[in-house]
Amino acid sequence: MNRKIKILAVSGSLRATSTNSLLVKEVQKWAPSNVEITIYQGLATLPAFDDQEPTEAVISWRQQLADADGILICSPEYAFGVPGTLKNAIEWTVRSGELVNKPLALITAASSGDKAHAAWLQIFSALSSDIPAGGALLIPFIRTKFNENGEVSDAATKEAILNTLQALIQTIDQKASAVDQ
Ligand SMILES: Cc1cc2nc3c(=O)[nH]c(=O)nc-3n(C[C@H](O)[C@H](O)[C@H](O)COP(=O)(O)O)c2cc1C
Repeated sequence: MNRKIKILAVSGSLRATSTNSLLVKEVQKWAPSNVEITIYQGLATLPAFDDQEPTEAVISWRQQLADADGILICSPEYAFGVPGTLKNAIEWTVRSGELVNKPLALITAASSGDKAHAAWLQIFSALSSDIPAGGALLIPFIRTKFNENGEVSDAATKEAILNTLQALIQTIDQKASAVDQ
């Protein structure tokens, strides 16, 4: 691709001390020089999904998804499931289809997280999002993986995240080359 690859990173948590929001900031710092990672900031502005005309916030959310070459989702597990705020945001795309065939990497970071991870995989499969091999990562015990500066201090976790990011970048690259041919 002869321009920077654009990835939109979305944290599924609104908590001020969110580990998932720390994760997207870390991944943004680790992006290779040919990749630009933008962090979606509008999650709290999205109204509850309904059948009415989309608000400005919804239009902007859909546009940011459409403009990105790939999406990185970092999600917690709350109450044995996916977080409601992010699920609501995804519901706004079901009819408009921004995530159909979209390269997408999923990181579920929680205390355990297995239920939310499985649910997200089912949801993104139903939406026909393109999660590549190696593009889905479950990080349990997430709070133990950071140091006091909010940096990922666990080397194995950092490596696993970088591999997940790489899988996303690779699939974006492959799609771009297929279009160029
Ligand atoms: C309301 C709430 C519910 C939670 N429920 C679960 C759960 O069902 N499973 C789990 O693995 N962790 C659960 N946790 C722990 C979170 O996974 C952990 O705090 C994680 O850091 C949350 O991500 P965040 O910091 O990005 O919000 C819960 C935390 C909160 C605040």
